[in-house]
Amino acid sequence: MDTDRILHKLKEVNMLPTFPATVGTVMNLIQDPMSSAADLARGMDPSMVSEVLRIANTAYFGTRNFRNITSIEHAIAIIGLEHLSSIILQMPFITMVKGDSGFDRERFMEHSIMCGVLSKTISLSTRLGNPGEAYIGGMMHDIGTIIIYRYFRREWDQVCSLVRERDIPWPDAEREVFAMDHGYMGAILLELWNIPKVVTDSVMFHHCPDEAKENSGNALAVHLGNRLSKLVNAQGIVSDFDVFLKRCRSFLDIGNEPGLERLPGDGVMFYEKIYAAARQTQHYIYEEKREER
Ligand SMILES: [Fe+2]
Ligand SMILES: [Fe+2]
Repeated sequence: MDTDRILHKLKEVNMLPTFPATVGTVMNLIQDPMSSAADLARGMDPSMVSEVLRIANTAYFGTRNFRNITSIEHAIAIIGLEHLSSIILQMPFITMVKGDSGFDRERFMEHSIMCGVLSKTISLSTRLGNPGEAYIGGMMHDIGTIIIYRYFRREWDQVCSLVRERDIPWPDAEREVFAMDHGYMGAILLELWNIPKVVTDSVMFHHCPDEAKENSGNALAVHLGNRLSKLVNAQGIVSDFDVFLKRCRSFLDIGNEPGLERLPGDGVMFYEKIYAAARQTQHYIYEEKREER
């Protein structure tokens, strides 16, 4: 498919008017220990405010039988900065597929949130890239998938057939159809929206971190975050650390994995941090889902 057609289509993609500015604000706030969630609220538009209020009133954040959080300040105080930013960063993409039963919105959100949190945890414990940037890159890493589903439906079907018929990885099938994978596609869109390159590079190269010429630490953190979050999401609620550790070790060969090969000891401390972050995030996702039912 020719790049001009892709670019032409991407320019049609609508977004929330405040979105690019919000990404910059979120990045600065996550980096600044003195910042508060209230600072982020100033950059929110009405649709963001209503989504944040809805979530603040769910079981995990509100009091189970007495939910009437009506002010945005109260909602923000309850949700906290990290979850607030995850809600806001997902919004423009989720609105694109709202009401479309063919796209598993819930699974997409769970995977994105988990990937954001784990990419940040990996960045913090391995010193790969920058934690705040890895968090945002992880949160948005698969948005190209939504773009392909929504704006290139014929090609989406071709990718599905290729994966089915030849049993090849999804990004490989995309490269055959588009000459690029969803990471590249998502990064082009984010660049059109003026999202900083430190973030778009991690999105672009999350399936091929060795191709990143700049910001390779962020790309590697998001690459590992994506792989580990797939493992975690596939397992459901992880209840036992030893089981988790065993599965991770058979999945990732620490000593030979770029970015992890210099971890101290046998990597148990690293996996303890991943486990704690994954459990906390699963708890949050699970409670939110239960409330929606
Ligand atoms: Fe991906
Ligand atoms: Fe992913």
